[in-house]
Amino acid sequence: MRSRFIIAIDGPAGAGKSTVARQLARRLRYRFLDSGALYRTVTLAALRAGLSPGDEEQVAALARTLDIRLEGGPDDPRVLLGGDDVSAEIRGPAVSNAVSTVAALARVREAMVPLQKGIAADGGVVAEGRDIGTVVFPDADVKFYLDADPAERARRRADERGEADVESVRREIVSRDRDDTDRDVAPLCAAADAVRVDTTALTLGEVVARLAAEIEGRMGSAS
Ligand code: CDP
Repeated sequence: MRSRFIIAIDGPAGAGKSTVARQLARRLRYRFLDSGALYRTVTLAALRAGLSPGDEEQVAALARTLDIRLEGGPDDPRVLLGGDDVSAEIRGPAVSNAVSTVAALARVREAMVPLQKGIAADGGVVAEGRDIGTVVFPDADVKFYLDADPAERARRRADERGEADVESVRREIVSRDRDDTDRDVAPLCAAADAVRVDTTALTLGEVVARLAAEIEGRMGSAS
């Protein structure tokens, strides 16, 4: 049993993974690993290079050459591509619309797994994404699967972005969820041993409290 846990949080867009993972990382003094940021950064690089997002050979070859770094703590996570801060650009609509196509490429995923394992080599990580508990860290100490109604997830995401058109945000996330769930490689799904939490009617504080209680319970029984 490692002394510092690996905590996996998976689920669809807007379920609250990122905010909850950051708060847990702060509370536990762990690192926060935003795996979606890696796929978003590869997508940005592919779009900048003029590649078609579904071109596996070319996008994977590019992905293997990229210098992607996740820096900062849970309060100010930053993503650097070749030393430049791309944290804002990777959240824009161009990347959001193409990222699921890039993330479905097996060879791109292969290139991203060692990076994630390296970050968690000594434990002490709260990692969030789509395949953390199933593929990247199947031996994570605690696994969660967060979900919420699509309308609520769209409302949260629109709020975050200051976007008035909630319906277009809903369409984007529903389409991305479908692509993420239906793909052959590392699809979005709950690990058999994940604790499932429906966050639709819960406040952020309530979600964090529920997850923290589960983690602290497991830490208590591990020590
Ligand atoms: O923040 P949001 O949940 O909208 O997205 P994200 O976590 O930044 O992930 C963006 C996209 O990257 C997802 O829709 C997936 O297509 C892909 N992704 C993935 O395939 N595997 C992961 N572990 C994380 C993200």
